[in-house]
Amino acid sequence: MCGIAGYIGPKVAAPVLTVALERLKYRGYDSAGLVTATADGLHLRRAEGRLRNLQEKLEREPVSGHVGIAHTRWATHGAPCERNAHPHLDGGCTVAVVHNGIIENHDHLRKELQAGGAVFASETDTEVIPHLLARLRRDGLDARASVRQACTLLEGSYAFAAIFADEPERILVARKGSPVLIGRSRPAADGSRELMIASDIPALLPHAQEMAILDDGDIADLRAPGTVEVEHDGAAKIPVFKRIEVTADAVDKGAYDSFMAKEIAEQPAVLARLLDSRVRGGRLVEPDLGLDLKAVNHIVFLACGTSWHASMLGKRFLEALARVHVEVDISSEYRYRNPVASGGTLVVAISQSGETADTLAGVRLAKSKFLPVVGLVNVVTSTIAREADGVLPLLAGPEIGVASTKAYTAQVLGLFLFAMQVARAKGLLPEAEELRLLAACAALPELVTATLADETAVVEAADLFAAAEATVFLGRGGEHPTALEGALKLKEIAYIAASGYPAGEFKHGPIALVSRHLPVIALCPRDAMREKMLSNIQEVRARAGRIIGVGAGDDPQLRDLCDLVFPVRSAPEDLLQPILSILPLQRYAYHVAQRRGCDVDQPRNLAKSVTVE
Ligand code: AGP
Repeated sequence: MCGIAGYIGPKVAAPVLTVALERLKYRGYDSAGLVTATADGLHLRRAEGRLRNLQEKLEREPVSGHVGIAHTRWATHGAPCERNAHPHLDGGCTVAVVHNGIIENHDHLRKELQAGGAVFASETDTEVIPHLLARLRRDGLDARASVRQACTLLEGSYAFAAIFADEPERILVARKGSPVLIGRSRPAADGSRELMIASDIPALLPHAQEMAILDDGDIADLRAPGTVEVEHDGAAKIPVFKRIEVTADAVDKGAYDSFMAKEIAEQPAVLARLLDSRVRGGRLVEPDLGLDLKAVNHIVFLACGTSWHASMLGKRFLEALARVHVEVDISSEYRYRNPVASGGTLVVAISQSGETADTLAGVRLAKSKFLPVVGLVNVVTSTIAREADGVLPLLAGPEIGVASTKAYTAQVLGLFLFAMQVARAKGLLPEAEELRLLAACAALPELVTATLADETAVVEAADLFAAAEATVFLGRGGEHPTALEGALKLKEIAYIAASGYPAGEFKHGPIALVSRHLPVIALCPRDAMREKMLSNIQEVRARAGRIIGVGAGDDPQLRDLCDLVFPVRSAPEDLLQPILSILPLQRYAYHVAQRRGCDVDQPRNLAKSVTVE
């Protein structure tokens, strides 16, 4: 986790860096800090807690300088206090470092450095890096050689940036296992460029128009007025700069009070964009995955969190349409097993960020077993996208709210289209069925718009149940993943103990939870499971539970049985209904969180991109 940023250019670095941190704070927000470099030395400012604390400190104690590095932290080693905030410096303030990742041999290095006289000021693993660099400089190495040598001694994962006090116009960057990008502006009339570094594209905006991705093992040397040299294994490497496609608007809240609210509202446009890229003349456009899908007889989905819920729906789609055997695996479990790798197996990694450490480790494990890997990712510049054999882009645009919303519905639709692609490759998708299913997909953006337009009952329920200590979500078939996802949303942004269950399983124990204090949210759209769900709702009602139904607004039986109904439109194809059913649950979590005074975009203890184990 954590986000790092850096700037070299004609502007005052501190404001540029705080904007970059604003765009990276979804990666962690326990503390933030920056250092600038001038001929007078290194100027450090750090603050515990939210970024605004750092901004206020900078207003009280501004720093000059046109070169700087910055960090927003999600604590791993050491409490989230100012002492442990980055940047970290060596005792003599000769070098400052920001770091994303974990230095696994920090204990050993710390003892060795302490034995040589280093005095540590924090409990972080990161602090070994500036002490190490300072020692290597004292041993006579130049700045770049000291970074090169340090990388041979550091174990674990990192993207770090360093500034040396005696070279205030230069930033050195190294990557192994954690993402980092180099951005640069278009050349000015005199050929100079502004340079940036960042953990993610949004933080490069609006100063950089082009970016290059560093690979593991790369060391980049950035110098004013705009040169970038990269080396790999000691040999020079030409960085490949590409135009940045994301606009600054896409990473702005606009008129919304939160990114989560904006991203929920964007869902019709996101689904329409994905369909636009995958359907031509009513027929499915098949991205080239470099694979013979006809030969695939076993698919393993790897994912975490919300992406894991999407993959549960992917299993249903593939089994229904392509009759392929599918396993859904939580990445952090898969990576520590010795999974069987048989011929005909395809691994599909699902990840919004494309940087989730456990999913990436699963991808690498699969590849080490010579299994082909497809990545269903939103961030196409991510490590998973680059390491997978084939990529299915979600095109959802930057998702900044920690709670995934638009990426989830895009994942579900993306998986549906993938299932159609596999079915077609296997000769199991007659043209008429393909046309019918794509017509059902095409109806989704409008149905999503209509469902989102009616949130009266959601607001009423949030008023009634915001103080509840627990909430249960029930669903059957395709709505079981919806129940899990609805519960996850409520847990992560409203801090309510929420659980999702397959409704048929509820009576095997969890029904003991039911009392008049427990809201039970029952997913009961007009699909093949409706009758069964109505029976399950009766079971809760018979025990005095408070029931919120999620289903057709004009379903009289549902209205009779429930205290409230969140109305959702009916999808023309049952398999697609979960895309609609999740919408009021996203909004419910949002409204409950607001009533409980929670920060929906930056919930406590979390970070969006989980790049540590
Ligand atoms: C979603 O609301 C969560 N914040 C989280 O579960 C997330 O889905 C998970 O960490 C996986 O992230 P990824 O899709 O970027 O791999």
